[in-house]
Amino acid sequence: MKKQVQVWIFILLLVMCFLVFKFLLKPSFTDTYSPIEPIAMHSKGNGFVGSKACAACHLDIYKTHIETAHFKSSASANIKTVKGSFKAPENVFDLNDSIGFRMNIKKGALYQDIFLKPNNTPVSSSRFDVVIGSGTKGQSYLKWRDSSLYQLQVSYFTPNNSWVNSPGYPSDKLASDRPIFERCLECHLTYAKSTKRFYKRNSYKKTQMVYGIDCERCHGPALNHVNFHRKNPKDTVAMHIVKHSSLTRQQNLDACALCHSGLRMRGNKSPFSFVVGDTLNQFSTPDYTEEDLDKLDVHGNQYGLLSASECFKKSDVMDCTTCHNPHENQRDNHMSFNKKCQSCHNKKEAHVVCRVPEEVQKTSNNNCIHCHMPLVSSKVMKIETAIDTLKPVQVRTHLIGVYTSQ
Ligand code: HEC
Ligand code: HEC
Ligand code: HEC
Ligand code: HEC
Ligand code: HEC
Ligand code: HEC
Ligand code: HEC
Repeated sequence: MKKQVQVWIFILLLVMCFLVFKFLLKPSFTDTYSPIEPIAMHSKGNGFVGSKACAACHLDIYKTHIETAHFKSSASANIKTVKGSFKAPENVFDLNDSIGFRMNIKKGALYQDIFLKPNNTPVSSSRFDVVIGSGTKGQSYLKWRDSSLYQLQVSYFTPNNSWVNSPGYPSDKLASDRPIFERCLECHLTYAKSTKRFYKRNSYKKTQMVYGIDCERCHGPALNHVNFHRKNPKDTVAMHIVKHSSLTRQQNLDACALCHSGLRMRGNKSPFSFVVGDTLNQFSTPDYTEEDLDKLDVHGNQYGLLSASECFKKSDVMDCTTCHNPHENQRDNHMSFNKKCQSCHNKKEAHVVCRVPEEVQKTSNNNCIHCHMPLVSSKVMKIETAIDTLKPVQVRTHLIGVYTSQ
């Protein structure tokens, strides 16, 4: 009898333990998997979470991605992200004989101060709020006025390591503030939400700016993917995310052509509405035809130039990722690019091989790119390095071909 009571008490204790475990301890388990909050919402409904949220499960990609020009293509302005100097004498830029700019740090914030010569009479002071450009070739800067964005008149030009007049600005006078429309942000940010429609299209929801060309620019807003996999850590099949491997060649090309096929003609779809997997021509159309190759600029139109090359036209598979790993900074790693050329241009693959004797190729370090994808001056991106002297920016052409002058 006594034994039976003991057994019953034991069973009761077990049941109690189970209930305590189930109802009292459970909240701390759900805590671990509590849904992550979005940092911005796309107009199509899904949320952005930012690359830090991907690091937990895709650490290797995250680590190399934050070193890319894409990730650094826009940011909040601070002493680390702004490349130009705030130390005298490099912090000064003379627009002309009567107007000067001085870049100063005041209470931890960065400013462009404009003054009149010769007495240093102050004219205006504007804060650097947003940086556009990783600084590979240069940077431009934006300031907030309430919820509207405007460009500063100074920019930075990396080859000269100096402040310059922003491209397209007058050098004989101060420019009025140039509003920054969504079109400009579309190629340099992951997301920005415009708040006004028909006028003042330079107003944005300040709290929903997603700087940098981050993971979700190329993979789509990933809130549902992240929440699913946090909740189901044992599932190894990717859910709620676009799979590049199941997209068509054109869809994969479009994912890059969105920003690398020049200034396209826009229909009635608003910037930032395109997401990977969409067909770009339903959102905007090229502003050139196959016939007028001359109109294509080396700056910003890698897609147009590549698609006019024999390599592209005579291959069924070539796209941007044939040569580029979008998760890595591969700048100047020419040897790794040359291997890509040789993966098709070798005697085994039965494609044509270089007709230039090996001794001559050696004079250019066997560098296919040096001879077949040379640096070409941009017709549209020009920097005023000295008063009335425009210097074109050099960009590598994607019109792969035979260039006799190299
Ligand atoms: C809690 C874990 C987790 C987080 C956080 C996470 N993922 Fe994933 N992701 C997975 C798993 C699991 C897979 C499937 C296995 C694999 O491909 O690694 C996957 C696969 C992917 C794929 C490949 C899809 C395919 O098959 O082609 C992409 C792209 C991707 N994730 C993007 C992201 C992005 C972008 C973020 C951040 C916004 C992110 N993931 C955050 C777990 C996660
Ligand atoms: C949202 C617009 C956008 C998309 C989408 C995009 N790019 Fe870019 N890409 C840029 C911008 C802007 C830069 C210049 C970044 C900078 O230096 O500030 C750039 C730079 C690059 C560079 C030069 C990197 C360097 O080290 O200087 C390569 C290569 C490149 N992109 C390839 C690609 C490929 C491949 C894809 C598709 C998988 C792609 N991009 C998709 C906007 C984009
Ligand atoms: C410039 C566009 C771009 C950016 C930015 C980008 N990806 Fe990708 N990602 C791609 C493309 C294109 C593929 C398909 C690659 C291929 O087919 O070679 C891919 C493939 C993947 C895959 C599946 C294949 C693999 O390599 O494991 C994962 C996972 C992934 N990306 C996660 C991320 C995460 C996480 C980030 C940010 C830390 C990120 N990507 C940033 C374009 C991008
Ligand atoms: C159609 C897409 C597109 C638009 C719109 C665009 N850019 Fe760019 N921008 C690019 C690409 C792509 C690159 C780099 C690759 C190249 O030179 O082709 C670039 C490069 C730059 C660079 C040099 C970055 C570096 O570090 O090398 C700056 C600065 C810049 N853009 C500023 C701007 C500003 C400011 C605007 C708006 C007024 C703007 N861009 C509009 C695509 C665009
Ligand atoms: C995916 C395979 C592939 C890759 C990668 C590739 N090519 Fe090609 N390339 C081709 C094909 C196919 C042709 C056309 C051959 C023919 O006419 O039969 C071609 C043609 C050429 C031509 C002749 C162009 C002309 O106008 O007559 C040159 C030069 C060339 N490639 C150089 C390169 C260089 C340099 C690289 C690396 C940056 C490269 N290719 C990468 C497939 C490729
Ligand atoms: C056949 C190989 C190949 C293909 C395919 C290719 N690229 Fe490139 N790309 C290169 C090489 C080589 C460079 C020069 C890299 C360097 O100098 O660091 C380059 C450089 C770039 C740059 C930087 C240009 C500069 O001078 O700043 C951008 C942007 C770029 N590629 C975008 C793209 C896009 C977008 C696509 C697809 C439409 C693409 N590339 C396809 C080989 C290729
Ligand atoms: C020193 C400059 C130089 C270097 C380096 C070089 N090439 Fe060439 N290549 C040329 C010239 C010039 C021609 C045209 C020769 C002719 O028509 O007689 C050519 C022709 C070609 C052709 C077209 C052949 C045909 O029959 O139409 C291909 C393909 C090619 N090169 C690929 C490559 C590859 C791949 C590499 C790197 C392994 C490379 N080249 C390195 C200068 C160079």
